[in-house]
Amino acid sequence: MRVFELRDGFGLDRLRRVERPEPTPGPGQALVRVHACSLNYRDQMVVRGEYNPRQPLPLVPLSDGVGKVVELGAGVDRVQVGDRVAGIFAQRWLGGSLDAIGRASTLGSPLDGMLTEYAALGAEGLVRIPEYLTDEQAACLPCAAVTAWNALMEGGARTGETILVQGTGGVSIFALQLAVCAGCRVIITSSSDSKLQRALDLGAAEGIHYRDTPRWDKRVLELTAGRGADHVVEVGGAKTITQSLAAVRIGGAVHVIGVLSGAAAELPLTSILMKGLRLRGIFVGSREMFESLLRSLDVHRLQPVVDRVFDFEDTPAAFEYLQAGGHFGKIAIRIAS
Ligand SMILES: NC(=O)c1ccc[n+]([C@@H]2O[C@H](COP(=O)([O-])OP(=O)(O)OC[C@H]3O[C@@H](n4cnc5c(N)ncnc54)[C@H](OP(=O)(O)O)[C@@H]3O)[C@@H](O)[C@H]2O)c1
Repeated sequence: MRVFELRDGFGLDRLRRVERPEPTPGPGQALVRVHACSLNYRDQMVVRGEYNPRQPLPLVPLSDGVGKVVELGAGVDRVQVGDRVAGIFAQRWLGGSLDAIGRASTLGSPLDGMLTEYAALGAEGLVRIPEYLTDEQAACLPCAAVTAWNALMEGGARTGETILVQGTGGVSIFALQLAVCAGCRVIITSSSDSKLQRALDLGAAEGIHYRDTPRWDKRVLELTAGRGADHVVEVGGAKTITQSLAAVRIGGAVHVIGVLSGAAAELPLTSILMKGLRLRGIFVGSREMFESLLRSLDVHRLQPVVDRVFDFEDTPAAFEYLQAGGHFGKIAIRIAS
């Protein structure tokens, strides 16, 4: 079978298309013929060796993939041959709060990921995909959509509240769409006017160009009559967190998700305690959260935004496209259909 792997070191130039024997599903496992994958910012960090420089190689990258179950190992009754399934991000985080076992069980590092024609995965680490989604759309869900769901819906966002969403990448566009479905008002930031327009078309109420309006936190306060946003989907990291804390209302929540501008930040602790803020660290989410998300998507017939689909053989070009940052929503890879 065809696989992309990092073998001799990190870097996109070390990502090689190789042949491996097709795996046989062991007890409790299902063999999945992978139809489509999607890229996350994390996958780029993994390939560059920035996510875990001590990651043992070889490694098959990518956390997110969707396909059909083609064979079952002994003792599997959770899925059947022919089911269309996705692997969950943390294979052993099924529900409840995150623990060390769950955190160490993530696909695409440290475990082999989904950039392969066939993957043998524990059946407990699979969820069934609603019929209405295409393979490419469904492949966008395991990391970005579950993260957005965990932040907002598990984080208590309610109808009528204001959600501040940063940027227009994978997590942020899912956060926008889920918030709109939940009847929230969304303020979104971007470095691009045309992306802001696309976000407005998806239901955002207001857009702020964060380069033209570097004090976007003040603009958020203006747009909320001085009150602030109820929830902030914080993906920017070191260079955005202080403004996020200023833009959120007293008693509001900042969902700490990304470190796009770095991870080392000084926090205004007095402001955090005087405002009674909730800072929630988000680590994607559990299978239980993924299943709640899937039920909601099915009800709302939410259409994940796939910016572009690359063929499997063009995977390095897909990574270059992600790195260039011109995308809106998600980037997918088609492997088979
Ligand atoms: N904690 C978790 O569980 C978890 C899960 C998923 C992702 N993440 C993290 O969340 C971040 C986003 O991931 P992703 O996969 O959605 O990335 P992505 O699809 O590559 O999106 C990146 C987008 O973020 C925006 N951006 C970049 N720098 C920004 C800044 N300084 N301020 C505001 N927006 C900025 C840009 O939007 P514009 O082009 O519109 O400016 C860019 O296109 C990454 O740091 C990733 O590692 C964490």
